[in-house]
Amino acid sequence: MAGSTGQAGEQGWSSRSAFVLAAIGAAVGLGNIWRFPTLAGENGGGAFVIVYIACVFLIGLPLVLSEVMIGRSGRSDAAGSIAAVAEKSGVSRKWSLFGGMEILAAFLILSFYSVVAGWTIHYVFVMLGDIVSSFQAGAPFGTAFQGETQDMITGRMGELFGNPLELILMHTAFMAITVFIVANGVHDGIEKAAGTLMPAFFVLLVLITIYGAFTGAFAEAVSFLFTPDFSLLTPTAMNEALGQALFSLSLGSAALITYGSYVGNDVKLAPTATMIAFADTGVAILAGLMIFPIVFAVGLDPAAGPVLVFQSLPVAFAQMPGGSWVGMLFFVLIFFAALTSSISLLEGPVAWVIDRFKLKRLHAALLVGGLAWCVGLLCALGYNVLSDVRPLWFWGIFADSDILDSIDGITGKVMLPLAALGVSLFIGWRADRRLVEAETGLSAGTLMLYRLIMAWIAPLAVLLIVVFGLFPGLLPTS
Ligand code: PFF
Repeated sequence: MAGSTGQAGEQGWSSRSAFVLAAIGAAVGLGNIWRFPTLAGENGGGAFVIVYIACVFLIGLPLVLSEVMIGRSGRSDAAGSIAAVAEKSGVSRKWSLFGGMEILAAFLILSFYSVVAGWTIHYVFVMLGDIVSSFQAGAPFGTAFQGETQDMITGRMGELFGNPLELILMHTAFMAITVFIVANGVHDGIEKAAGTLMPAFFVLLVLITIYGAFTGAFAEAVSFLFTPDFSLLTPTAMNEALGQALFSLSLGSAALITYGSYVGNDVKLAPTATMIAFADTGVAILAGLMIFPIVFAVGLDPAAGPVLVFQSLPVAFAQMPGGSWVGMLFFVLIFFAALTSSISLLEGPVAWVIDRFKLKRLHAALLVGGLAWCVGLLCALGYNVLSDVRPLWFWGIFADSDILDSIDGITGKVMLPLAALGVSLFIGWRADRRLVEAETGLSAGTLMLYRLIMAWIAPLAVLLIVVFGLFPGLLPTS
């Protein structure tokens, strides 16, 4: 662990903005554009969104600060950094077990993340194919999918799921690109990728949102997303909202600790953490405002689950002039966002393997990426060959989940909250107070609030939400 102090020296970020871009790149991803609308749709909209935003700013933001701080102070991988801070604070190094769990969570998330990101690559090709056919038909800027019914368009998702080879091919391509970038190192790989992809992402996002605001049922979408119906707020929905807040901010999964370990001592962490939280939440809300107008305009079910985004948007593209071009740009956008996130998912476990087993970066990236690819393979097959498999059949709330949903569920609802609990208790009760004060650079009042959150509010909220979310039967009224 201490030996990896070199990590920051040899391969730290070249500037503060390089770190900010990479961290926002880690945060903004499929979680914002695919998972957030899916969960908001499944859990009735407004009330979910309010709990989500409360979780982001009350629990998530202080945790972002804590994780980046642990990385910068510990200067190692997620487990090593927690151990180092524990040592500096004169408490047991066993707290690093939470770091170990973060690394495992990152590995598991990466495995299914790559499969879903593969869907976006598939759709880029679908849209490209449509551009070619519209050229042949002599209307290169007409609407997309000409001559197809709505059922045919939404049915494409089912066709993809029924085609294991295609799913596996796209998953493989995505994982290979991720491994390639991480193998190139922090400076030449991660930083360059984020520096190119994130600005392109934001330009595309603004263009498509402006375009989309003029089409579709915007008012209905706004009322769905912002009018809370608290009767829909079940304990499970609250657990989803907390899990989603952690997932979306890349918390509890080694990424921020590891990225933090490459941050220079001169960088002020609190404003940086705030920027990450705002950028991430802004993109999630924008994505909701992009997707739900279409969902309502064409009468799709907002609770359609993981296929929602992939089914609803092509229907909209079929009604827009230049739809195939907008569609292609849209899926390129998701692909960019997914890539900067998967890079951060891979970097956490890779940094650990490098530190722990002294492997070369290339070998570590191939090893971790290869293993995550294997788990992802099972997720992809879970839509066809293994569609009867229910890995968590014995556990009520997960009993009906296929392989991908089970891994998504167990990481989001159990592992990330547990890691959040561990980190907040560690910082709130065990970490050296002067170290925390110096590293966060917070003023006295804010520091007190931060400590209160880490010691009491975050642990209690996480504990209550998770226990009642996982075992709703414990609540007297239900
Ligand atoms: N925050 C990413 C998203 O919203 O898509 C996903 C993610 C990245 C989760 C990195 C965890 C992580 F460590």
